[in-house]
Amino acid sequence: MPNRRPIVPGPTYAEMRDPLLLPAALRARARAALKSNEMNPLNLFNITWKSAEGGVNHLVLPKELTGVRANVIVLLAKDFPSGSHKVGPAYTTLMEAEAAGEIRPGEKTVIGPSTGNFGIGTAYVSSLKGYESLVVMPDSMSAERYERIRKYGGGLDLTPGTESDVILTLERTHQVYMRNPRYKVLAQFELLPNYRFHRYVTGDACLQAARGVGNGRVAAFVSAPGSAGTLAAADHIRGVYPDCAVAAVEPRECATLFRNGRGQHRIEGIGDKMVTLIHNVLNTDYVVLVHDDDCVKGVKVIQDGQAVLTERLGVPPDAARRMQDVFGISGVCNVIAALKTAKLLDLGPDDNVVTIATDGFDRYPSVMADLERRVGTPDAGTYEMWAKGIFLGATTHEILDVRLAREKERLFHQKEEVWTQFGYSKEYLDRMKQPDFWESEAAKIPAIDKAIAEVQGSLG
Ligand SMILES: Cc1ncc(COP(=O)(O)O)c(C=O)c1O
Repeated sequence: MPNRRPIVPGPTYAEMRDPLLLPAALRARARAALKSNEMNPLNLFNITWKSAEGGVNHLVLPKELTGVRANVIVLLAKDFPSGSHKVGPAYTTLMEAEAAGEIRPGEKTVIGPSTGNFGIGTAYVSSLKGYESLVVMPDSMSAERYERIRKYGGGLDLTPGTESDVILTLERTHQVYMRNPRYKVLAQFELLPNYRFHRYVTGDACLQAARGVGNGRVAAFVSAPGSAGTLAAADHIRGVYPDCAVAAVEPRECATLFRNGRGQHRIEGIGDKMVTLIHNVLNTDYVVLVHDDDCVKGVKVIQDGQAVLTERLGVPPDAARRMQDVFGISGVCNVIAALKTAKLLDLGPDDNVVTIATDGFDRYPSVMADLERRVGTPDAGTYEMWAKGIFLGATTHEILDVRLAREKERLFHQKEEVWTQFGYSKEYLDRMKQPDFWESEAAKIPAIDKAIAEVQGSLG
């Protein structure tokens, strides 16, 4: 086709995992762009867990707050371009399609089915790469999410409801966009670039964050699935530490993997009432339930209860400060589940539990305002009660062991119920029951990277 617009370059999987592989001058220009202009396409090269100094952005939580002997390590995603690591799978899904010759800038509208952060990532990456974008998402998510999508030039196609109505966004996506050649759908719940990003890039970041802490290994990995992309990090960690326990986390109010529950809840980004297609349930050992309002209150404690944390719980002031701004609701949900898992497994001071804060506080002032409307402005006594109850008081209640074959069958069955509706064959779903399926999807990365590098090379 004549006069096709050039592909805007971005990193390979290997370069996202290790930005030191990029030419130093390019890395420096990308870092400068992060500060000066977030809409500069060079920011694609900042899609990484690594800071400018080369370490993984993370925190080891103060034991005065966790109350467990194990080290709880939280990877911090808020410094990814667009403010959450969901930009990673949005980028890889688009970039893989470009590298495979499926799309070029300007030729199709990019669709991001989402509950927010993936949509923000889709609008952002599309804008940097020269595509129009449209986010299909529920109409009752936090106001900050819609603002960001609009700011990045994304359109909105809203379906009724909240997080647990994401199935409606899936239905809309399949009915309207999936088979229409004018659109490229970044179908995060079902396409494997999401799996590959987290297995290869996030998985390695988890290993690196644990190095130098405790015994340097990962004893448990804890993540609350939305798409279950992040959970794919477990597949990489398991390759190195086969004994690592893996916990998937759900809101108690919407305990789908736990007991087929289907309720409404307040934890944006997770608890989507389904086993997603890309969830490798073979590597999920436990399902841990967390009460949604504990997560909202936990964010409030960390954000505004600093004086109580230091004066009444004895958290060192700099540790309390480092926790500010880096947690959204699902991040606190992951932390509470990490504490429950550490207690269940009776982990000791050498052991590391790794989890994730997918986004930061910037997305939740409206949720905090709603909390204050519901319960009033907390005083010091309330903050103390919340901190002690939610974090120090985390229990081992409501944890389901799903290692047994009959539990795996139950989860496979749930997956089939959803995905055969959307046209996936029984044969494909059966292949997902074998470890080989996931290994072969990960093994495609070197060839994909070669194709990405070639696309960039052809641009000179
Ligand atoms: C705030 C938040 N937390 C957690 C998740 C879950 O991540 P994943 O989709 O990789 O399972 C999401 C996904 O959108 C999210 O937006």
